[in-house]
Amino acid sequence: MGYEVRSIAILNQKGGSGKTTTAVNLAACLGENGRRVLVMDLDPQASATDWFGVENPGRGITDIFVDRAPLLELVRATDVLGVAIIPASAWLQGAEKVLRWEPKSMKILGHYVDELPQHQWDYMLVDCPPTLGLLTANALIAVKEVLIPVEAHHLALPGVDRVIASVETLRAHLNHELRVSTIVPCRVDPRTRHARRVVAELRSRYGKLVSQVEIRENVRLAEAPAHKQPITLFDSRSKGAKDYRALASEIIAAERPLA
Ligand SMILES: Nc1ncnc2c1ncn2[C@@H]1O[C@H](COP(=O)(O)OP(=O)(O)O)[C@@H](O)[C@H]1O
Ligand SMILES: [Mg+2]
Repeated sequence: MGYEVRSIAILNQKGGSGKTTTAVNLAACLGENGRRVLVMDLDPQASATDWFGVENPGRGITDIFVDRAPLLELVRATDVLGVAIIPASAWLQGAEKVLRWEPKSMKILGHYVDELPQHQWDYMLVDCPPTLGLLTANALIAVKEVLIPVEAHHLALPGVDRVIASVETLRAHLNHELRVSTIVPCRVDPRTRHARRVVAELRSRYGKLVSQVEIRENVRLAEAPAHKQPITLFDSRSKGAKDYRALASEIIAAERPLA
């Protein structure tokens, strides 16, 4: 029996929330569990592309916005089990500027995603830029789920409501299947009362949407990108690897068999 393909945008308009760290390491942990994962890097900073050590990424996903190139041709293999990536590049910033703010421009990625061969991947994870602009709108139309990583800091809380409000707007007008499926506390230092209070506040506001696991602050996660390896390969026994494996298990537990 098959399972529904999961498509998840990893989104928080606040930079430094843990989006890229979550996209890369969640992908690797899903891959360890036998899942086939396609990461789409939609951030002009191309941090996920760099982290996977993609050589000569070219313009990457920018091509679909400017040349209307087939998405499948942009897919690159990685050294990580089960994980492939569509790279980003700085060109993406220019693409966003030339697109007009209209529904047609928001549907480009979704159009190409619909044309991907079905069931070649079990998961599509989109690493979003730290903005709620046209690129992010494209992600929100192309996927069904949104995962919001939240840095455990009180300044991060209002941002969560803004992401939820954007998702609601998109759902009402352009993508009826879209929903926030998971809110993940990130960079949690369990020794500080401040971090514990923020996580408690998240749980009281958003209840079951908040993952059981809290991704702890772990320097190995911050070191891994320089080594071009996800945490599972860079330091398989670190707290970071343990936490992202636990997150992957929670996400896998929510898989749904095809009706
Ligand atoms: N759990 C963590 N422990 C330690 N450092 C982290 C953790 N999560 C993220 N970081 C660091 O925080 C910074 C921002 O994370 P990143 O994933 O790039 O956020 P975003 O993609 O939302 O901008 C990076 O320097 C990253 O290495
Ligand atoms: Mg990022």
